[in-house]
Amino acid sequence: MANVIRADVNPAAIGARAEQMINTLGSVSAEPNRLIRTFLSPAHRGAADLVSKWMTDAGLTVSEDALGTVRGSLAGSGPKRLLIGSHIDTVFEAGMFDGPFGVIAGILAAEHFARIGRPLPFGIDVLAFGDEEGVRYSATLASSSAAAGHFDFSTLELVDAEGVSLAEAIKQYGKDPADIAAAAYVPGTAAAYVEVHIEQGPVLEYRKQPLGVVNSIAGQTYLNVELLGEAGHAGTVPMLLRRDALAGAAETILSAERMARDTKGEVVATVGHMHIPAAASNVIAGTVALTVDIRSGSDAARNAFVEGFKKEIREMADKRHLGLSITTTRNVPTTPCDQAIQDGLAAAVASVGGEPLKLASGAGHDGTAMAKLCPIGMLFVRCRDGISHNPAEYASPSDMGLAVAALIHFIEGFKP
Ligand code: GLV
Ligand code: MN
Ligand code: MN
Repeated sequence: MANVIRADVNPAAIGARAEQMINTLGSVSAEPNRLIRTFLSPAHRGAADLVSKWMTDAGLTVSEDALGTVRGSLAGSGPKRLLIGSHIDTVFEAGMFDGPFGVIAGILAAEHFARIGRPLPFGIDVLAFGDEEGVRYSATLASSSAAAGHFDFSTLELVDAEGVSLAEAIKQYGKDPADIAAAAYVPGTAAAYVEVHIEQGPVLEYRKQPLGVVNSIAGQTYLNVELLGEAGHAGTVPMLLRRDALAGAAETILSAERMARDTKGEVVATVGHMHIPAAASNVIAGTVALTVDIRSGSDAARNAFVEGFKKEIREMADKRHLGLSITTTRNVPTTPCDQAIQDGLAAAVASVGGEPLKLASGAGHDGTAMAKLCPIGMLFVRCRDGISHNPAEYASPSDMGLAVAALIHFIEGFKP
C-alpha cells in the first residue's frame, strides 16, 4: 500500500515524543516502585494536571468535569465535535501504555491541527477519562458514562476498599456530584468518539502489522460470588463434616476455567480477585468472596455461559452444603464499531503503509460508554508479546508514531 504520510507529519519524531510523554506520565504513581493510579486518587490528580499542561501547551482550551475528566478542546468552523480519548487510571502494578497512549495520541494529533491554524470543519475534544479500569469502584466507566449522559447515579453510593463512597471521593477530589449532569455532551453535538489503544493481545505482532482497526468491543458480565460455609478448627473437624467455603471457591474457579475452555475461544472467564475475610492457616474458611469476569464477542454465547455457570455453581454449593449468593455487578453488551469510522481508520492505516486488519477487542474500553452518545471507532497499536496489565507492557516509538500519523490522516478525512 502506498505510503502517503504528509510531508509535515514526521512519525519518527512524533513517536519519540510519545515515548517521552509515556515515560513521564508513567512516573506519576501512588507508589515509587510500581504504577498504581486509581480513580480520583492523588496520583490521578497528578496525572490530570500533567495532561492538562500538555493540552494547554498543544494549543487546546482545557476544562475538567465533575468526575475529573480532562478535556482539551480545539475549535472548528462547524458546531460538531470529534471526540478523541482514552483513560489515565491504571490497574494495580500496571504498564505505562494502557490508556495513556490514547490520550497522548489525541494530544499530539490535535496539536498538529492547532499548529496549522486553519480550522477544521468540526472541533476536536481530547478526553482523558479517569475510571476505565474499575479497580476502585465495581461499576466502571463512570467518567465516560457521565460524558455520554448515561451516568448511573445509584453508583454514587458504592464504596471502595476503605469504605469511601464514590460521592465522597468526588468531593475529596475537589468536585461536586451535583455537577455530574453538566459533564454530558448535548446529544447531536458529538459527531463520533475515536480511541487509539494498544492492542493488549498478540494478533498484530503475529501478523507483523503496526496498526489494526477494531470492529467490536467484547461484552462483559461481572459476577460477585459469595460462598458461606462454617469456620472451624483445621485440626479437629473431620474432612467429611466440613463446610469449607474455600474448597467451594476452588471448584468455582476451576468450573469457570473448564467451561470457558469448552467454548473453544468464544468465551473467556477469569477469577481475578478472591477475598477470604478471616483467613488463617489453621482455620477452615467460613466465607469466601470472589469475582468472575466473563467476556465474549457474542452476547448469546456470553449469556448462555453465565446461565450454565450459575447452574453449575449452585449444584456445587448444594453438594457442599454451602450458602451461595451470586450478584451481577456489570452486564455490558458487545459494542459494535461504526462501519464508516472503521472505513476511515482502515484508509488511515493504509496511508501509513499498513495493512488494515480488522480485529475484535477482548478488553473493555471507554468506547462502550461513549457508544450511547455517538458512533465510535478504535485504532489498535501493536504491543510487545501481546502483554498488558503488566509492567512489561510496551509499544515501540515507531509504532506509536505511525498511530498518531494515521490518526491525523483519519481526522483530515473525517466527515461529521
Ligand atoms: C480494562 O482494561 C478491562 O478490559 O477490564
Ligand atoms: Mn485501557
Ligand atoms: Mn486496562
